[in-house]
Amino acid sequence: MNVSIFIDDAIKTIQRGTVDRKSPFKLPVLSSSIDNNIHQRIVVARRYNEHDHSLIIYTDHESKKYHQLKTNPSCSLLFWDPKKRLQVQLAGEASFLENKAEYWDKLNENQKKDYVINPFPGTEISSADGYSYDSAEYRFEVISIHFKTLDVLELSPNGHRRAKSILNKNEREDFWVSP
Ligand SMILES: Cc1cc2nc3c(=O)[nH]c(=O)nc-3n(C[C@H](O)[C@H](O)[C@H](O)COP(=O)(O)O)c2cc1C
Repeated sequence: MNVSIFIDDAIKTIQRGTVDRKSPFKLPVLSSSIDNNIHQRIVVARRYNEHDHSLIIYTDHESKKYHQLKTNPSCSLLFWDPKKRLQVQLAGEASFLENKAEYWDKLNENQKKDYVINPFPGTEISSADGYSYDSAEYRFEVISIHFKTLDVLELSPNGHRRAKSILNKNEREDFWVSP
């Protein structure tokens, strides 16, 4: 198999994850780091932009990840599809979109509630239900994660395959590596 087709297939699987609720690629792990500490959490992959190889994620302005990515935009996404036995490790750079109202307007009222929780996410509360959806603030944020490198591993009884891809502005360098 041609290495670029192998990488293309992995990128298509990322893209499909944004539109297919059942795809395990819908829910990658996003890692960020601050002060030499690493933080990980599951997020929803919302949209893929093929023109600049970036993935859109929504979050709350008051979340820890927002602060971490603002301070240090270097981050990574980890995807795993157990049926395809496909892992993608992605290194990226986060930026924050100005036109977030466009995305906000497309959410239903229930989805919007995730961005108005009080007290702010991660604050200690006296009981499990000691929070409410009542913030008057506009806390919705749209994060764009621009792909820098991909590491794609496909496990198979016929032989594992692993390749890396370095994405530059106008070119992509793909090569096989030992699994
Ligand atoms: C299935 C699932 C999907 C999630 N999707 C998002 C998401 O798209 N954006 C987000 O900010 N948090 C999402 N979360 C919550 C985060 O995993 C995390 O618990 C929360 O955002 C606080 O993370 P932080 O303190 O690192 O910012 C999701 C959690 C689960 C279990």
